[in-house]
Amino acid sequence: MSVLAIIGGTGLSKLVDLDDVHKRVIKTPYGEPSSALTFGTLNGVEVVFLARHGYGHTIPPHKINYQANIWALKEAGATNIVAVAAVGSMNQTMPPASLVLPNQLIDYTWGRSSTYFEEDLEHVVHIDFTNPYSTTLRDSLITAMADVDLPVLNKAVYACTQGPRLETAAEVVRLERDGCDLVGMTGMPEAGLARELKLNYACCAVVVNWAAGLEGDEISMDKIEAFASKGMDKVHRVLTALVL
Ligand code: HPA
Repeated sequence: MSVLAIIGGTGLSKLVDLDDVHKRVIKTPYGEPSSALTFGTLNGVEVVFLARHGYGHTIPPHKINYQANIWALKEAGATNIVAVAAVGSMNQTMPPASLVLPNQLIDYTWGRSSTYFEEDLEHVVHIDFTNPYSTTLRDSLITAMADVDLPVLNKAVYACTQGPRLETAAEVVRLERDGCDLVGMTGMPEAGLARELKLNYACCAVVVNWAAGLEGDEISMDKIEAFASKGMDKVHRVLTALVL
């Protein structure tokens, strides 16, 4: 049985419209996931939901147990993972409240446990990561976005920074020079771990602010919250329309 996994980020700590809900705590060889998994159906589709930062939004990006999270979702029967993530934007065509499906990423994080292939190996394992996101799952999301009349923004490079602080203006200039369009803090090692476990993984990024230095001297947390809630309404619409 195939289950759709949804990882909720900032602004999406639970899924409304979920029917037949029950929760299950899953233990993994890597420790505890960020939260118990919520099982239910969304428009008749079996889904499992994980709150990446915990249900009370208490776990910062660099402290998230990404290994346990992805392992638990696989254990729960997930084959597709839609990872919802709040991001800043550096691309004028992707203003706050936009929904974007990045097709590439650059990993600027450090010190995170980023692989399952570390111990008790018979030989070193390298995975292909040329295209970090699943083409088939992205195609389904693109169709769903079009079906609910949202602009399809599906070409973007996601920069994953360490956090939890936001970037300096100079760091954003460097990210732009590197060719990045979006910046967030949770996309890696999540995407890489999903690939290691052969799960289809796609990122559904919700733009909640212009990246540092692109709009005034300071990023307003109040504005971030307002755009997160606007963007999450769109996420709900897309997920409800998603056909796999
Ligand atoms: N930078 C990094 N992560 C983020 C941002 C940002 O500007 N906005 C939301 N998550």
